Amino acid sequence: MKEQIDINRLPQHVAIIMDGNGRWAKQHGAERTMGHQHGIQPVRDVSEAAAELGIKYLTLYAFSTENWNRPAEEVNMLMHLLVDTIEKETPTLNKNNIRLLTIGDTDRLPLAVHEKFERCIEQTSANTGLNLVLALSYSSRSEITQAMQDIARMATYGGVRVEDINEDFVSSCLQTKNIPDPDLLIRTSGELRLSNFLLWQMAYTELYFTNICWPDFDKQEFYKAIIDYQHRERRFGKTSEQVTK
Ligand code: IPE
Ligand code: IPE
Ligand code: MG
Repeated sequence: MKEQIDINRLPQHVAIIMDGNGRWAKQHGAERTMGHQHGIQPVRDVSEAAAELGIKYLTLYAFSTENWNRPAEEVNMLMHLLVDTIEKETPTLNKNNIRLLTIGDTDRLPLAVHEKFERCIEQTSANTGLNLVLALSYSSRSEITQAMQDIARMATYGGVRVEDINEDFVSSCLQTKNIPDPDLLIRTSGELRLSNFLLWQMAYTELYFTNICWPDFDKQEFYKAIIDYQHRERRFGKTSEQVTK
């Protein structure tokens, strides 16, 4: 499948809503937490596949602000899984020249988790290959609201004029400020919604949905999504004739 990918037309940024861990576990007669444990290997595989292909940005939705409302037991288990994984995977990230970044309200994470992430971000900061962006305690509406507050503050006290506030300016106030907008969004598990993920940034993103639950997602499924993306015509409001000229 990899051979069918045109490496000259790769998406620069792929975002993934990794969904369906709980249902996968249920289908296997196991607890939801088991599904989360089985969700780690696909993260490794997809990061490696993206790095090998030469994709520059991969953003993974790992935990939403709304996910804090899940049963405490599940939230705790997810936090432990995050600490364990980040600790174990840092050498592999370095081996694969991957730089880790995070978006989201990471201050809300337990201190130990927060510190592990800070350390990994620092230890991988010199890597020049794939930028792996983990969305943790992330909510797009809260990110946009935060940006609005910052802009209001700059307009009130920082000498920013109302006419300076254009789309680029708004983008530069988001947590994704140095990251290009996603070209392709993948969501697993058959759900057809965005669940508060990168709403501003995905204005023109190509959407790809698959029924496969996240623990079953692998490199082949990732290649399939990219091949599908490469068959799309991105028109950005123009006519087909205009964009193929
Ligand atoms: C995605 O799987 C992982 C997280 C949201 C942390 P889910 O846990 O949402 O699995 P389903 O959707 O209940 O099957
Ligand atoms: C979205 O999945 C968040 C993550 C994958 C981290 P959810 O399972 O929380 O989304 P909903 O509740 O089905 O919309
Ligand atoms: Mg879900």
